[in-house]
Amino acid sequence: MSCNTIGLGLVGFGTVGSGVWETLQRNGALISNRAKGTIQPEVKKIAVRDLKKQRDTKAPAELFTTDWQAVVSDPSVDIVVELIGGTTTAYDIVAAALKAKKPVVTGNKALLAERGESLFALSKEMDTPIHFEASIAGAIPIVKAIQDSYVGNEINSMVGIINGTSNYILERMFDAGLGYDEALQEAKDLGYAEADPTLDVNGWDAAHKAILLATLAYGFTIDPKKVYVRGIERVRRTDIDFATKLGYIMKLLCIVRSNADGSIELRTQPSFIPKQHILSNVNGVFNAVALHADAAGDALFYGRGAGQGPTASAVVADIIETCYATQESAGNRGFLPYKDSGEVVDINETETPYYVRFQVTDRPGVIAEIAQILADAGIGISGTNSPIDPNNPDAEFVQLVFLLHTCPFGQLRETLAKIEALECVTERPTVFRIENI
Ligand code: HSE
Repeated sequence: MSCNTIGLGLVGFGTVGSGVWETLQRNGALISNRAKGTIQPEVKKIAVRDLKKQRDTKAPAELFTTDWQAVVSDPSVDIVVELIGGTTTAYDIVAAALKAKKPVVTGNKALLAERGESLFALSKEMDTPIHFEASIAGAIPIVKAIQDSYVGNEINSMVGIINGTSNYILERMFDAGLGYDEALQEAKDLGYAEADPTLDVNGWDAAHKAILLATLAYGFTIDPKKVYVRGIERVRRTDIDFATKLGYIMKLLCIVRSNADGSIELRTQPSFIPKQHILSNVNGVFNAVALHADAAGDALFYGRGAGQGPTASAVVADIIETCYATQESAGNRGFLPYKDSGEVVDINETETPYYVRFQVTDRPGVIAEIAQILADAGIGISGTNSPIDPNNPDAEFVQLVFLLHTCPFGQLRETLAKIEALECVTERPTVFRIENI
């Protein structure tokens, strides 16, 4: 086979785009050797917003343009690599590339989770693949694992820590005693957080990835409106202190699980997990997905989930995969949904034990009033705690923690609404699930 130069068009040259450039420069010869000299990927064009911006990574000036359409339509560009993020212009870029029958490589989980239905349909119609390994868990090859390595398995569950920023923030709050804002700033400085970290901390970055995991494993695209998502913004030191005291670690967890009736459970929220569970040792920017499959059994995927090098590693892997497919005329090797629809379980029907913290007025009978409402609802209490602040023993308000036995989330919600209406309860109760994983 002769050597085949494959032209790449990069749209976006930020943290990840410049990481892709650097990786290809550094390891181009290695990649070519591994492909037995048959492929040579080469960046032909780069679209950026601002040509004058000072960049640490230097690429030849003649490659740059501000016009993404010029990248997609350039005859020397065979593969379009979308790395700008967002769901509007990115959508137009991916759609235009597919219509031009140019395979797409993207790291954009929001785009595929929110608008995947129409993009995958276009991918099918044009017989042109979308590759998105970099969208989920950075350098961890989880897309490839589900699509290829576990192709002979029914995937029963995936429990993931798949937002590096949240994981980093929680760890710094737990171990270094940092405040939330300080820890978030560190994550930004290290290049883990998205340009706008809102989706990192409100749970949606992880939820988008979980939606894609579920789509890969169960074959249908999922309406994000059906997915329960909570982020880490409401986590306070006091919850972390309680978790520690009770022998738990708090993690932003994504749960994806199939039920016997074919429906799936899909949710993202900060949860308590036992300190001795393997996932509690996933720290900093690291991600992990604990997967259970019917034939393979348990597996744990672990690696860096964010940052320039790890994300670029996944993008480059997809580029090379696409190059192979282009050369072998192997047709569409990207993912395509294979079922029209499926059922996502209502969050109110999902069950776990819970940690609930109430801020209450410190007066006689408060615990009894709350306990009575829980008893009337048939929700059992497995433990209570009420720390006294030694610096402020006569505080007007105190924190009351209840550990509750397993019950449906809907039942808990209804019951908490009644408790919240008590005059002694002074703010919305804080709830964390205690996961049985
Ligand atoms: N901002 C993401 C994270 C990285 O913190 O995990 C890319 O998804």
